[in-house]
Amino acid sequence: MQNKICVVSGANSGVGFEAARGFALLGAHVVLVCRNDERGLATQARISEEVASADLRVAHADFSSLTQVRQLGTVLNGDYPKIDLLVNNAGTFFAGRKMTADGFESTFAINHLSHFLLTQLVISSLLSASGRVINVSSEAHRRAKLGRSALEEIIRGGGPYNGWGAYSDSKLANILFTKELARRYQADRLSAVAVHPGVLATRIWNRNLSPVSLLMRAFKPFMGRPAVGGEAVVFLAGEPSEAVHGQYYEKRRLSEPAAPAHDRELAEELWRVSSELVGV
Ligand SMILES: NC(=O)c1ccc[n+]([C@@H]2O[C@H](COP(=O)([O-])OP(=O)(O)OC[C@H]3O[C@@H](n4cnc5c(N)ncnc54)[C@H](OP(=O)(O)O)[C@@H]3O)[C@@H](O)[C@H]2O)c1
Repeated sequence: MQNKICVVSGANSGVGFEAARGFALLGAHVVLVCRNDERGLATQARISEEVASADLRVAHADFSSLTQVRQLGTVLNGDYPKIDLLVNNAGTFFAGRKMTADGFESTFAINHLSHFLLTQLVISSLLSASGRVINVSSEAHRRAKLGRSALEEIIRGGGPYNGWGAYSDSKLANILFTKELARRYQADRLSAVAVHPGVLATRIWNRNLSPVSLLMRAFKPFMGRPAVGGEAVVFLAGEPSEAVHGQYYEKRRLSEPAAPAHDRELAEELWRVSSELVGV
């Protein structure tokens, strides 16, 4: 990874932190995208303490704001004519419905829309480097109910709301986005892959008081280490493009996603609606 530019969202915690640390160990220049500058700088210090040669930079963006994502895109485009790797990792869920200032349901906005926008904003830099996009998805996508008809309504927060349902839908969107990105670009120009990082003891389970979160929190001692997810991301960054392009991995193993992840019309519709909503 020497001289490679890696951008990792949600780099201050869990999978993102471990992946960023892994790339720093391999000699990459790592852009730690964090929504909280203090946590970003603390992450930079923590990795530098361990990896003396770490080449790190903190960049700010709260993914619940499309304005902040656009500002991040401007910063990245200004400083990096080439980006080798974009890890769309930042993710969360909300037990109760929460809307962003832009008027979108927060889970979908943070987990999909903002990463969709960021990828579009830096696409030229990714293409210049024959770069790779790694979308951190989840096995939760298997419970998704996302369909073509209610797509925009879901993104706009209409209809009944269920926290885990919204999370599952957003994680299916991550795979659909990966597949559509792969269809639009040849592997030698830009490669795209989705990954389930494992069921891991990260802070994601501490962010809500929903029954599922409380249950998962109780199981934390039996879950994998966050490093397992970080290692999977680093592994996928190093695999040949043809092996990973448009694929879904469970940690380091190639896996078959649920049938809706193969729905090309749904992927195209998601791309169309997402483009319209974020204005690209
Ligand atoms: N842990 C698991 O078992 C598991 C399983 C499957 C998939 N995943 C996926 O793995 C990815 C990473 O999650 P994790 O388990 O590592 O959880 P985590 O430790 O909670 O890390 C989530 C990261 O996302 C950031 N983030 C959350 N909301 C944000 C926002 N509005 N704007 C910008 N950044 C935001 C967090 O920043 P702050 O610290 O500032 O909040 C944090 O850096 C997610 O996409 C998740 O869906 C996790």
